[in-house]
Amino acid sequence: MPSNASRKGCQERCRAQGGVMTSDFDPRDFRSALGKFPTGVCVITTCGPDGKKEGLTANSFASVSLEPPIVSWSIRNGAPSLETFLASGYFCINLLTIDQEALSSHFCRPKVDKFEEVLHVFEMGLGRSPRLIDALATFECECLSHHAVGDHIVFYGTVRRYRHRDVDPLVFHGGAYCRVAAPH
Ligand SMILES: Cc1cc2nc3c(=O)[nH]c(=O)nc-3n(C[C@H](O)[C@H](O)[C@H](O)COP(=O)(O)O)c2cc1C
Repeated sequence: MPSNASRKGCQERCRAQGGVMTSDFDPRDFRSALGKFPTGVCVITTCGPDGKKEGLTANSFASVSLEPPIVSWSIRNGAPSLETFLASGYFCINLLTIDQEALSSHFCRPKVDKFEEVLHVFEMGLGRSPRLIDALATFECECLSHHAVGDHIVFYGTVRRYRHRDVDPLVFHGGAYCRVAAPH
């Protein structure tokens, strides 16, 4: 552990070099900095023991391990759909194509039944988690573990089945949707 004196020295050096130190964080500016990292967009779905389907738009998806195949994602503590994800034991990561921005907008707002209007674009996946028929890729997972980290719960899942196709992805960057530029 660094001593208080060395931490203070480090903070002063960092300030002198330019950059915002933890103690001076403005949450909006911090979010803007994180938004510099372009990501794909997915809708992560699950089905509770009572049959209740839940889904949310997420860009926290990440690959973690190839052998065994493990992925991760995180959900805000207190999100309405969290309890169902905790109770289910399964989830499906549905990566979105460039044509599926409307689905992303639909699943990023709280609603009692998000599947009422869009059930026809899903089929039943492992553990009854809804699987998006026309997704860019789907990863059907058995929940391996979940951990409270800061203000989010991080889920790890073992991929039991996946599929993918060659279509342009939906990309999220700087707080806006965009497309991958063609290579030159
Ligand atoms: C592009 C994008 C990415 C998002 N990524 C996440 C995420 O990784 N984790 C999260 O908890 N919320 C994320 N959100 C916000 C959730 O989609 C939103 O809070 C949603 O209402 C949660 O679903 P629920 O209200 O049914 O629990 C994201 C929203 C957008 C537009």
